[in-house]
Amino acid sequence: MSGLMIEKLSMRFDLPNGSHVQALKDVSLDLAEGELMSVLGPSGCGKTTLLNIVAGFLAPTSGEIQLNGHDVTGPDAERGMVFQQGALFEWMSVRENVSFGPRMKGQGEKEYGAEVDHLLDIVGLQDFKEKAIYELSGGMQQRVALARCLANDPDVILMDEPLGALDALTREKMQSLVLKLWKETGKTIILITHSVEEALLLGERLLVMAPRPGRIHREYRLPFADLGVGQDLREVKKHPEFAERREEILGMIWDMEEEIMGRSEDEK
Ligand SMILES: Nc1ncnc2c1ncn2[C@@H]1O[C@H](COP(=O)(O)OP(=O)(O)OP(=O)(O)O)[C@@H](O)[C@H]1O
Ligand SMILES: [Mg+2]
Repeated sequence: MSGLMIEKLSMRFDLPNGSHVQALKDVSLDLAEGELMSVLGPSGCGKTTLLNIVAGFLAPTSGEIQLNGHDVTGPDAERGMVFQQGALFEWMSVRENVSFGPRMKGQGEKEYGAEVDHLLDIVGLQDFKEKAIYELSGGMQQRVALARCLANDPDVILMDEPLGALDALTREKMQSLVLKLWKETGKTIILITHSVEEALLLGERLLVMAPRPGRIHREYRLPFADLGVGQDLREVKKHPEFAERREEILGMIWDMEEEIMGRSEDEK
């Protein structure tokens, strides 16, 4: 079976003071190959925990997780991660960063060269390939991170707030780039964001999670990611359904935040 299957996943963190946090409870989810899913939810609802479990960085307390029919038991190049910032190798050039995965697999320039250059073209960094990471803007650094992830040819790309540290204009350009990469590579992508607009634009499926215990609250199937592949994202945002969904989801998350704030510390 191809794709990602998550079945009744739960994660409980036991704390040194004897209490515990139920970060996820009974999360079930199927993601077909090539699907693009965005994940939204109030702070602390378990989004990063879910992604870390799929990445294999964390073992769940209970539940099952399979990719293409086999159990996920630890990190593997089949699942690539793109972090918010700061996960690049500062002492390497752009091209050395992007070719890192293939080089670790023992490949030489002859084997990976053309593909790495192709990826640098796609993310628009061909002219910067010999530069050091510190010479790049934040948006450029995130493009290096995307290209480096793709160079490993993962089946699934996991992104935790990948555009969260960027200014509004750069962020918009990067949103278009994510859609372009998704269409060109056919990768399965899970993208966490705090921005309702970004989740609407970058999710053909959008998952809204609820906190304490972290769980799936609601799921949407949306037309905007497909529309955004061939269209300016500002035009996509003018779609009548876009505004409607944005208001609905903003209200939903607002209510959850209110509920969390309204509870006493013990109940949290
Ligand atoms: N290693 C850990 N040990 C103990 N508790 C943890 C650990 N990691 C996460 N938690 C707790 O689990 C819950 C979910 O955390 P998580 O980081 O997954 O939330 P999130 O949805 O990613 O939040 P944010 O939007 O702020 O990034 C939180 O209550 C958090 O305090
Ligand atoms: Mg998080």
